Amino acid sequence: MTPDLLEQGAQRIQERTAAVKAGKSNTESGGRSANNSRVATPGEVDITHGRILYLEDVSVSFDGFKAINKLSLDIAPGELRCVIGPNGAGKTTMMDIITGKTRPDEGTVFFGSTIDLLRHKEAEIAQLGIGRKFQKPTVFEHLTVFENLELALKTNKGVKASLFFRLDSLQSDRLADILVTIHLADSVNRMAGNLSHGQKQWLEIGMLLMQDPKLLLLDEPVAGMTDEETARTAELFLTLKGKHSLMVVEHDMGFIRTISEIVTVLCDGSVLAQGSLDQVQNDERVIEVYLGR
Ligand SMILES: Nc1ncnc2c1ncn2[C@@H]1O[C@H](COP(=O)(O)OP(=O)(O)OP(=O)(O)O)[C@@H](O)[C@H]1O
Ligand SMILES: [Mg+2]
Repeated sequence: MTPDLLEQGAQRIQERTAAVKAGKSNTESGGRSANNSRVATPGEVDITHGRILYLEDVSVSFDGFKAINKLSLDIAPGELRCVIGPNGAGKTTMMDIITGKTRPDEGTVFFGSTIDLLRHKEAEIAQLGIGRKFQKPTVFEHLTVFENLELALKTNKGVKASLFFRLDSLQSDRLADILVTIHLADSVNRMAGNLSHGQKQWLEIGMLLMQDPKLLLLDEPVAGMTDEETARTAELFLTLKGKHSLMVVEHDMGFIRTISEIVTVLCDGSVLAQGSLDQVQNDERVIEVYLGR
């Protein structure tokens, strides 16, 4: 990703955010198609079309029940997209599809303009630069904070390469930066098992960051956190925005209010509404199915 492309992405977010604030949002992706004729530079995601993630008309059924139903949405490079919606709306299933855990029955899923994610396996998608955080923290409880972060760099390497793995200076610098970002600089030698729930969640986010993902998918990251931890997580996500693209699924509206630009409301497996939080909160259909009267 070259700086000028990042700038273009940032510029696009600003324009979109301004449009949303002015009530002129038209953020649905319908009609625009990904160009898959371009040749991607290995290791790079082609964001020349201003999209890091692009889903069009994606559907999946489980035993005849349509969990995802003609879902279309796209995310700009560096954007922090919030996704809300009632239980069973298909939010987690959407993340399963993006990360290759679930194969859709139909539709298009692109990472940048050139990478067709439906052609890749789950492990390859992680390697391509899509990191996923599940709701429950999954850190190694018997290792220290440092060891957990170090281990994150070893994953996906062969056994032999892992055995002889040493952090180079660039990686050490990154680890130090990440420790500060995730508010665990004072806990570097603590056992992960002794951390609070919130700290474990931050550590897991740190482990994802060690792999420098271009896109981070976070499913209910503040569930079970104290108010203070939630506030610090909001701060953390705002720091990550711009450097990474983020998709955050949450039910905590206070948290969404603190971090959100564009909010997508999912219901019955497709996009019900999209816009600023105020816009979607005042949308009659959203009030009906999700927020209540
Ligand atoms: N592997 C599966 N097999 C069968 N049904 C599934 C599977 N995965 C999801 N579903 C169903 O698909 C629907 C969407 O579920 P999903 O977990 O994506 O919702 P969600 O929006 O994440 O809800 P929540 O807010 O409760 O986490 C639900 O009805 C769920 O039971
Ligand atoms: Mg879910």
